[in-house]
Amino acid sequence: MFRILFLGDIVGRPGREAVRQFLPILRKEFDLDFVVANVENATHGKGLSKSHYNALNDMGINVMTLGNHYAAQAELKQYISNTLKVLRPANLKTPYPGIGTSVFSLNNRSIRITSLLGQAFMHEEVDNPFDTLENIVHSLAPTDIHLVDFHAETTGEKMALAYAFDGKITALVGTHTHIQTADERILPLGTGYVTDLGMCGPYDSVLGVKKEIIIQRLWKQTKLKHEVDLGENALLNGLIFELNDQHKITSLQRLYRVVKWR
Ligand SMILES: [Fe+2]
Ligand SMILES: [Fe+2]
Repeated sequence: MFRILFLGDIVGRPGREAVRQFLPILRKEFDLDFVVANVENATHGKGLSKSHYNALNDMGINVMTLGNHYAAQAELKQYISNTLKVLRPANLKTPYPGIGTSVFSLNNRSIRITSLLGQAFMHEEVDNPFDTLENIVHSLAPTDIHLVDFHAETTGEKMALAYAFDGKITALVGTHTHIQTADERILPLGTGYVTDLGMCGPYDSVLGVKKEIIIQRLWKQTKLKHEVDLGENALLNGLIFELNDQHKITSLQRLYRVVKWR
């Protein structure tokens, strides 16, 4: 029996601080063996700088996945190839350094983590995520565990990909919307699923951004720059997988906490 925590998009300083302060507590409480986090918003809401990569690495996050904001911090291009722990989306059409799927080790087990971008209502040019995942599942060496982060906007696209690969991957978690969905379940052939993990970031905000800015943009069409909200409350969202020694998911537990980060 072992447990994996997958954290939703870490947003800005409130997200990083909440994880830094509370991950050790969660680790004890749930007896966690492995931690994966989506970090596409970790640096000021967009991308991942080298120093924030180092900070998250020091917190003991085993693997970090990205999303549509993967390229927002230009320096990622320089360091991603030397940083095996950070995965950018696997189905990018434009050439970009780094990789989108990789195998790690978890107490003598092999665990593959894959990052994919969706196609519906997303702006990036990507290869069809169904084809990309099929290639990964069929052409690469099989592993004991395979977790997929599907960074996508629509609920239907996420469900469809999970059902298409039910029994072929250990779990598929949705990210990107920053709003946690309450539909975690084990699909008929054993794959764990949730439509969206939610985020680790500012609680009194619109998806992590200062609410006043978003209200102005949507109501008055004022073009204001997005700023991460720095209010004292932060969300900690994720999903905890419990797996048996045959690497099958036996239970899923949704993590939804509001904490004070300062
Ligand atoms: Fe995000
Ligand atoms: Fe995103």
